[in-house]
Amino acid sequence: MVDLNKKRALVTGGASGLGKAMSEAFAAAGAHVIVADVNAESAEAVASDIGGEAWTVNLADTSALDGVDLDVDILVNNAGIQRIHPITEFPLEEWRLINTLMLEAPFVLTKAALPAMYAKGWGRVINLSSIHGLRASANKSAYVAAKHGLMGLTKTTALEAGPHGVTCNAINPGYVMTPMVKGQIADQAKTNGITEDEVLEQVFLGHSAVPKLAEPGDIAALALFLASDAAAVINGSAHSVDGGWSAA
Ligand SMILES: NC(=O)c1ccc[n+]([C@@H]2O[C@H](COP(=O)([O-])OP(=O)(O)OC[C@H]3O[C@@H](n4cnc5c(N)ncnc54)[C@H](O)[C@@H]3O)[C@@H](O)[C@H]2O)c1
Repeated sequence: MVDLNKKRALVTGGASGLGKAMSEAFAAAGAHVIVADVNAESAEAVASDIGGEAWTVNLADTSALDGVDLDVDILVNNAGIQRIHPITEFPLEEWRLINTLMLEAPFVLTKAALPAMYAKGWGRVINLSSIHGLRASANKSAYVAAKHGLMGLTKTTALEAGPHGVTCNAINPGYVMTPMVKGQIADQAKTNGITEDEVLEQVFLGHSAVPKLAEPGDIAALALFLASDAAAVINGSAHSVDGGWSAA
């Protein structure tokens, strides 16, 4: 059993999907969880269910966050979105939004959280990357670039923070059935000219040796372990949860 009593955890994108599952798991282990999300109503609902607090914040507004001080023991950089276009048609604003939210915001929050972690000599930074932090897919240039960049930030944070008792690791899921993935089914069907059932079989499970999608709870269980004292020497690592996709 992981004991997170007296720990404060900040989970971005905590109002939905993987962030919600991780918020619930950390709270169940005793942590005080701050559910940070742009969706105020859902963040309040999750926070109220788990006895935590909501922080309504647009993490794409990174200038407003630079210079903030965060007093948390565990930081989970999880908020994310997806946009699918070929490079030749990718709107610059969408490309920038993805990279601001999914790479710049984790940098700014890590910068904000490390001083208090260093002062305590204990901390955990967990970055929700993706199989797309390790492999590319066509039509996802912004997402793949942001997730590969997040791997670089994870490794650099690990090297700087490790001597202070603070670890930083990445979780790299293949597909997990969350609202984000449900939203992609129709998009992928349109872009690839196939049916939604074919998207599930060919796109979402096409690379997985295990013929099932991961559940949000599978990711939360791994995040909980990475936050535990038992994971003190796991640092700068990528943790794939992809049914074998990255083994090929
Ligand atoms: N679901 C998957 O299959 C999968 C696979 C690999 C990686 N991931 C990664 O896991 C993370 C969570 O994905 P999910 O599937 O749970 O998504 P989700 O859509 O269910 O949840 C994402 C959350 O982020 C919040 N968010 C979006 N924009 C925001 C902003 N500007 N400021 C603050 N919050 C914002 C949303 O309101 C939402 O609550 C993402 O980083 C995603 O890239 C997901």
